[in-house]
Amino acid sequence: MDADPKSVWDAISTRRSVRSFDGEPIEDGKLERCLQAARLAPSWANKQCWHFVVVKGKKALDESGIVPMNIRNPAAVIVACGDPARSGNREGKPYYLVDVAIAVEQLVLEAWELGLGTVWVGFFNEDKVKKALGIPENIRVVALVPIGYPSEKKSITEKLMKTVTGIADRKDLKEIVHQGNW
Ligand SMILES: Cc1cc2nc3c(=O)[nH]c(=O)nc-3n(C[C@H](O)[C@H](O)[C@H](O)COP(=O)(O)O)c2cc1C
Repeated sequence: MDADPKSVWDAISTRRSVRSFDGEPIEDGKLERCLQAARLAPSWANKQCWHFVVVKGKKALDESGIVPMNIRNPAAVIVACGDPARSGNREGKPYYLVDVAIAVEQLVLEAWELGLGTVWVGFFNEDKVKKALGIPENIRVVALVPIGYPSEKKSITEKLMKTVTGIADRKDLKEIVHQGNW
């Protein structure tokens, strides 16, 4: 894994999900910088509906039971939450998901710049996570973000991704961009 990009484009174009970490702790300053990157994200009417629960260290992570099965040795898991009542809802689109997603992506790119790997995890049991961490009833858990220094070894998920999804990498621009009209 080649974390430590030199520009935003470099970060965007080199970032990959990391699911296997070396277990080393993250310096507090780096973790805070990632959270600052999330904090600075744009949001619906600048309502900043997000909250982040940081669970650090093997003991706390083991006790919480929130580390996904396919993730190895993260230094921490950042649990990204949103308060639907603090964001918009237009034509059936709940914008708290968008707000939190933007914040998470900023966090992920900043982490990569600092040499840290992350992966967005959407497959988790929300009730279980909320119970384990005392997250209030009205708050939704949008993503789990395991974070840490990447290990040399690739995880099973990374090896099997193409088999599972049938997609090798990104679609070509001509498949997704419609000039003028669809
Ligand atoms: C909304 C969302 C949910 C995801 N959920 C999971 C997940 O539950 N488990 C997992 O291992 N990866 C998950 N991923 C990571 C994707 O599989 C990954 O981003 C995608 O395969 C592209 O690979 P890359 O991130 O290495 O470029 C998720 C990504 C997104 C954006």
